Amino acid sequence: MTNRDELESMCKRRGFLWQSAEIYGGEAGFYDYGHLGAELLDNWKREWKKFFLGLSEDYHLIYTPNIHPYRVLESSGHVDQFSDVMIRCDRCGSSFRGDHVIEAETGEDAEWMDKDEIGDKIQESALSCPDCGGSFAQPEDFNMMFEVALGPTGERSGFLRPETAQGVYLNFRREFRALRKKMPMGLATIGSAFRNEISPRQGVYRLREFRQAELQIFFIPGIHEEVFENRFEEIKNMPVRIKRGDKTKEVLLGDIEDVPPFYLYHLGKMYEYHTDVMGFDPQRIRFRELSEEEKAFYNKIHFDLEFKFDTLGGWKEINGLHYRGDHDLKQHQKGSNTKLSVSTEEGRKIPHVIELSFGVDRNIWALLEDGYNSDDDRDWLDIPPKLAPRQVAVFPLVKKDGLLERSREVYEILDDEFRTHWEKTGSIGKRYARNDEVGTRYCVTIDYDTMDDDSVTIRDVESKKQIRVSIDEASGILKELIECEKRFDDHSNTEG
Ligand code: GAP
Repeated sequence: MTNRDELESMCKRRGFLWQSAEIYGGEAGFYDYGHLGAELLDNWKREWKKFFLGLSEDYHLIYTPNIHPYRVLESSGHVDQFSDVMIRCDRCGSSFRGDHVIEAETGEDAEWMDKDEIGDKIQESALSCPDCGGSFAQPEDFNMMFEVALGPTGERSGFLRPETAQGVYLNFRREFRALRKKMPMGLATIGSAFRNEISPRQGVYRLREFRQAELQIFFIPGIHEEVFENRFEEIKNMPVRIKRGDKTKEVLLGDIEDVPPFYLYHLGKMYEYHTDVMGFDPQRIRFRELSEEEKAFYNKIHFDLEFKFDTLGGWKEINGLHYRGDHDLKQHQKGSNTKLSVSTEEGRKIPHVIELSFGVDRNIWALLEDGYNSDDDRDWLDIPPKLAPRQVAVFPLVKKDGLLERSREVYEILDDEFRTHWEKTGSIGKRYARNDEVGTRYCVTIDYDTMDDDSVTIRDVESKKQIRVSIDEASGILKELIECEKRFDDHSNTEG
């Protein structure tokens, strides 16, 4: 079991992540990424782009602003419907999400409840303020968007975007033309989203500013579904764990009969990303189908991908796969008075959207938790080499007799190819410990033999095993290991 305090302490001490504005006492709902955290975040984004844009040559990346004009979010439905039920204590004034208080006090799932149901439940269970024991006022709907004034007079207003998706829908028409009207067309974007969460908590799990990586795929049902059906053939025998209602089962994707293949194909690809790229143990991930009451207002089919967190109390959503139908383009067509339908052999139609939505911060936390290990000897982080913030560290065994200078030369060679770190202070044991803790995949040590025969040792973070190789071979071997073309054990001259 990973202990949350220990992992958070490591993240702060070693430069991964911590609450923002720390020197002013911190601000709930905002987090900073330090030098290793930022590297990890960038690596995650790069691998996400490679994997999901790699699904089709018709999938591309775009960037759009963080602020949308009022009308955009009015049309999308967020102005009216993007709210949580808030309950406020009459005595101390503290505010809470109604469903969270009910869940914490009764263990009952309350995310689906509206404000009347939350009010009834609070009465029925005689719930009081967790901070002071006072009673609650009537629940209210609280819109989670941050409204901002645009320009000096503030006449026009806008919102910090609550999801990255809307900017993509606004660009559908232009990109469809620029990309020569091909469908299915995928437009991805990665960036910040903002929600004025009533009670931000649990580290990076519930933030007021967070990052999303989202891929919106536009298609016309009945015309383009065949493309996905053909792709689905390749992965229909993939086993996945799925929770529907109260039942959790391991099933083959192809055996799920009441969900269309175009949707199942994308479930499979999300699953594969987590097992193959992020290296998650399949036992720790599952899909959960959301009930009618729980689904976001725009979704027709909705499964969340959940990760089993030790540090956050069990299964929690990290991503969602949303079949949004034609809701968004239809709404923007109406709101902007601009035609967003496309011509098809069956006449003009508004494209539908399937959205792969990833919460980047939650993925990063899951990656850190999954990789964090401790035993009597050491703490170490086992992060897949392509994602690891540091891939290689180079040390001299001692700083004298030319070893320091030689280690710097080796560092210069390896740094051209890998994310490499040079470390010369402390004992060799301490340097291993420091690098194990932050997940440096391979430590290369320059010792007295290096001075005789130009060989170095390479040590693996996970097994602590070492191999001895020549400096000339080192780059090639590290490359094979980092690209996962070979495993460490495949190298025969294992030392210990
Ligand atoms: N475009 C669809 C959309 O925004 P969502 O389920 O509201 O759907 C997608 O959000 C993902 O964004 C979630 O699965 C979650 O990982 C992440 N997310 C949502 N709210 C968050 C918050 N307050 N803090 C951190 N991540 C959040």
